[in-house]
Amino acid sequence: MIEDRIIVGIDIGTTKICTLVARVEDDDTFRIMGVGIEPSRGMKRGVMVNLEEAATAIARSVEKAQRSSGYEIRSAWVSLAGSHVSSINSKGTAGVNGGIVRETDVHRALEAAQSVAIPHNREIIHVIQRGFNIDGQNGINQPVGMHGYRLEVEAHIITAAETTVENIRKAAEAAGIKVIQFVLNPLASGEVVLTETERQLGVLVCDIGGGTTDLAIYINSDIWHTMVISVGGSLITSDIAHGLRLSLNQAEEIKKKYGHALSDEVGSEELFSVRAFGEDNPVQMNRRDLAFIVEARVEEIFRFVLQEIKRSGYDGLMPAGVVLTGGTSLLPGIRKLGADVLDLPVRVAQPENLYGLVDQLYSPAYSTSVGLLHWALLMEEAVEPKASKAPPLPNDLWEKFRDFAKQLLP
Ligand SMILES: Nc1ncnc2c1ncn2[C@@H]1O[C@H](COP(=O)(O)OP(=O)(O)OP(=O)(O)O)[C@@H](O)[C@H]1O
Ligand SMILES: [Mg+2]
Repeated sequence: MIEDRIIVGIDIGTTKICTLVARVEDDDTFRIMGVGIEPSRGMKRGVMVNLEEAATAIARSVEKAQRSSGYEIRSAWVSLAGSHVSSINSKGTAGVNGGIVRETDVHRALEAAQSVAIPHNREIIHVIQRGFNIDGQNGINQPVGMHGYRLEVEAHIITAAETTVENIRKAAEAAGIKVIQFVLNPLASGEVVLTETERQLGVLVCDIGGGTTDLAIYINSDIWHTMVISVGGSLITSDIAHGLRLSLNQAEEIKKKYGHALSDEVGSEELFSVRAFGEDNPVQMNRRDLAFIVEARVEEIFRFVLQEIKRSGYDGLMPAGVVLTGGTSLLPGIRKLGADVLDLPVRVAQPENLYGLVDQLYSPAYSTSVGLLHWALLMEEAVEPKASKAPPLPNDLWEKFRDFAKQLLP
């Protein structure tokens, strides 16, 4: 009997941990066989603050996914975020033996790209190839088999603080899981929420979760910039708790039930009732007051995002705009507020077209979780390339924008 091909992703978020077990089908789609969603513990803004608590929460999530899938989980692809993550673009070259580029030449060029000065306390998480140049000829996507003598690769290198990565690895191991590879949150989300056209045109993925806002810029179908900012929906909750004198649990509930990111769109007479601290009876509160609090914080989050877009140097190179995801993107009004602050088209996206045990996963909160499975599949394919798979053809819209974008690229 042929064994099932199984992939497992564990999304260790600040607010929830989501383990997904998927079976890869013959046509390289996957069916979700097991789901384990648990509240997260011991994580703050993408960084582990209590290893034991985190390990227990991971173990619970894994246990649930094992029970629902019937598979024993020993290893997994694991999400990573936090302000300790940083990225650089680098180049590497290799001489081509024999005048025809082979896989080993590509590896040597990529290795050379990694020889940039990386501090000893940082671990390389991803080296993503972004395009090749053979003997001065730019814009080559697939160099293997081509004629030439000097191969140059442009690579996007993502590094993370060694201690933080090591702690997450330890927590996973304590829960009985070997980490196959860490995957940066926005790269996982990007695999789920972006269309091919958006990636080609230039687009920003913005995943606003509980503790972090994760960004990735795609241009020309490649990853050009990634960044994690330590702000997210938990800050909105704590603002509401302070502003309206509520417990964090109450504030969280009220945010999800009545929150709105645009105060102008909430009627001044809309009321809701809640039992505040020190009050015996429920009190009436104005929904617009709540919206003022939410709006101020969400606007600030988008200002950080804008700052990061400008800092990246790719401002103006994303005609497809911003694709918003993550649990916080469920806030009514957030799309318009984002579009106003960033001055770009914005849409909100979530996983779609899933098979298997998927009811809960149709939410922006699970883009990273589902994206881990896509990423795993992509990486497995990269290791064993399929001979029959042709590269996707550019479509008309892309053709039009390509020349325009090329003029702007550095
Ligand atoms: N309906 C809703 N309205 C507003 N906010 C919501 C809603 N549903 C969830 N959220 C918020 O989304 C956040 C959780 O999002 P998500 O599950 O994407 O985060 P996470 O993956 O656990 O954290 P991170 O990726 O930041 O480490 C919480 O702050 C939660 O309050
Ligand atoms: Mg997340």
